[in-house]
Amino acid sequence: MSRKRVAILISGRGSNMVALIEAARTDDYPAEIALVVSNVSDAAGLVRARDAGIATEIIDHKPYGKDRDAFDRKLDATLQVHRTDIVCLAGFMRVLTPWFVRRWNGRLINIHPSLLPAFKGLHTHERAIAAGAKEHGATVHFVVPELDSGPIIEQASVPVLPADTSDSLAARVLEAEHRIYPLALRRVAEGRI
Ligand code: GRF
Repeated sequence: MSRKRVAILISGRGSNMVALIEAARTDDYPAEIALVVSNVSDAAGLVRARDAGIATEIIDHKPYGKDRDAFDRKLDATLQVHRTDIVCLAGFMRVLTPWFVRRWNGRLINIHPSLLPAFKGLHTHERAIAAGAKEHGATVHFVVPELDSGPIIEQASVPVLPADTSDSLAARVLEAEHRIYPLALRRVAEGRI
């Protein structure tokens, strides 16, 4: 079996990244995590990736200022050097340019902490509680130029409980994220979507 080479893009703690790394350790998993890229030099997830023996790259966005095209070209070149087949966004806090998104069309996936199309964007847990939602959850989807709008690969729902704070709800959703991201990547790597 030839495994797909996956790059994971992070900006922070990297718990979804760890879930993917662990899944990819199993013998029959169709993908290997070949690279972790962070735009934040001190992202906690970088340490976890290095501890797992995975190649890491830092592409600090700050020197690029407002030049998103230049940042995305550098990112694309880095992914090419590592012979990347599939890119997983996992808490990567940057909007990618339409050029980059089209270039990786069908091979670029993201995890979002809501039951899309509900609650696109940030602060999803607060917004779900404020809206009185009874159910909330997580979605893995293909990335398209419009934010949080691409075709859905996997979803999982969790209940919103009366005593929930955004933190308690976020923790419940995060467990669901760690479950569905490896399933979604498996499907994409196997071409079953
Ligand atoms: C997750 O909630 C993910 O859905 C969102 O950002 C958070 C990243 O968490 N896109 P982590 O870095 O994977 O722990």
